[in-house]
Amino acid sequence: MDENEVIIFDTTLRDGEQSPGASLDVPQKIMIAQQLARLNVDVIEAGFPVSSPVQFEAVKSIAEEVQGPVIAGLARAMKLDIDSCAQALKTAKRPRIHTFIATSQVHLEKKFRKSEDEILAMAYEAVKYAKNYFNDIEFSPEDSARTGKQFLFRIIEAAIDAGATVINIPDTVGYSFPDEFGGLIREIREKVPNMSKAILSVHCHNDLGLAVANSLSAILNGAQQVECTINGIGERAGNASLEEIVMTLETRKDAFKRRTRIQTEEIYRTSKMVSHLTGIIIQPNKAIVGANAFAHESGIHQDAVLKDKRTYEIMTPESIGLPSNRIVLGRHSGRHGLKSRLETLGYQMATEELNQIYEEFLKIADKKKEVFDEDLEVIIENNIYGSRKELELTYFHISSGNQLVPTATIGLKKDDKIYQEAACGDGPVDAAFKAIDKITNMTVELGDYQLHAVTGGKDALGEVTIKIIKNGWNIVGRGASTDVIEASIKAYLDAINKLFIKQRKHNDHN
Ligand code: KIV
Ligand code: ZN
Repeated sequence: MDENEVIIFDTTLRDGEQSPGASLDVPQKIMIAQQLARLNVDVIEAGFPVSSPVQFEAVKSIAEEVQGPVIAGLARAMKLDIDSCAQALKTAKRPRIHTFIATSQVHLEKKFRKSEDEILAMAYEAVKYAKNYFNDIEFSPEDSARTGKQFLFRIIEAAIDAGATVINIPDTVGYSFPDEFGGLIREIREKVPNMSKAILSVHCHNDLGLAVANSLSAILNGAQQVECTINGIGERAGNASLEEIVMTLETRKDAFKRRTRIQTEEIYRTSKMVSHLTGIIIQPNKAIVGANAFAHESGIHQDAVLKDKRTYEIMTPESIGLPSNRIVLGRHSGRHGLKSRLETLGYQMATEELNQIYEEFLKIADKKKEVFDEDLEVIIENNIYGSRKELELTYFHISSGNQLVPTATIGLKKDDKIYQEAACGDGPVDAAFKAIDKITNMTVELGDYQLHAVTGGKDALGEVTIKIIKNGWNIVGRGASTDVIEASIKAYLDAINKLFIKQRKHNDHN
């Protein structure tokens, strides 16, 4: 490999998907994988095939459909896992099995009750076994940052002897700090005799908020690959954020002198898509992709930025693909204008999809004077990425006020038949949800409800994200409208429609 390059290994679909409540279905995973390919990541870790039929299916479909990056699957250091991973990856043009075993003392004693030599033998055997399937094998000593160094060096050497092409050093519990973690990477390079035969990778968790700093310190000390996720999502406090690592390397080329192959203009769109499909909202002050990342509030800053952006901007919004042309379309814009604006934003649509988007656009444009790029993105997300709709909203009527019992009447269409119910509730949204529950003859637990304005102004599009819980599944639904009650109803129905799909799949499997 080129020594100035840093390999970007994206694990949004594996470690990222382990974020609480972020379960994605197979079509959603394929959609994200395709966007990751456009972002030009080097490796996509598509999932953990042995862990569930959905995971297996997702890795298999991504291996079949996504071209460009290496497609990796995760496997414990066990034949069963490796067989399943190889099976899922068999059609990939560039497959990689990523096998791991924990190596820290606490894991050896409490989880495995095995000696260091036994674990080392398991690691060696796993890599050797995986080599029967493919050449590209990654090995991770899980919890490396808390593993005794002598044992860590020994197990890395053994894995490379067995044929590992990549050695990944995880800080599984986000325990390390930059000086220490960078020092560990330097020592591995210096003290593992055969290290130059494999690529050295790092994988940092964010429990102390240091995942990105630790990854960057590792790069300065010779790491060649970093494992990261979009928006930093992942187990507990998450993983190192891809966009933060990439934009640091880009913005501070002077210090790092390393580059990635990432198409940075795709960052914003990828971030939005991952947030939308997982239902994990991005904090406004999140570096690079947060809503405020490029907003200048103070008068002094605004004045200086107008004189020269470089006063307070170390990178441009355009460099991450943030739409800069804010006012775009209105009620009188035609289909052609919409198509051309969508293409500028990077969305190539088939005629049928464009027609569907145009219909929605007209409804929004009727209520709002100006339709912004952000509005268009929400329309696309809700219509193209949305689930297949078994139940559709035909109408709703709400009566509410501070002296009234909130009441909702809802009409839903299913197979060309209209079903209507009315219900009272604690508020208009609650009443609407109860009326829907009457129609579906089902109750679900509401895990989370969030409302945010897509753009500024009184007529802004409100976007609602909802999490419902049923049968132990967390399902995310989204809906947008200039009317927040309609947005809430749409989000609830989106989640219910996804639940129907999940239930059917579950029944088919059992
Ligand atoms: O955090 C971790 O240790 C992991 C490994 C499986 C690489 O995710
Ligand atoms: Zn991890």
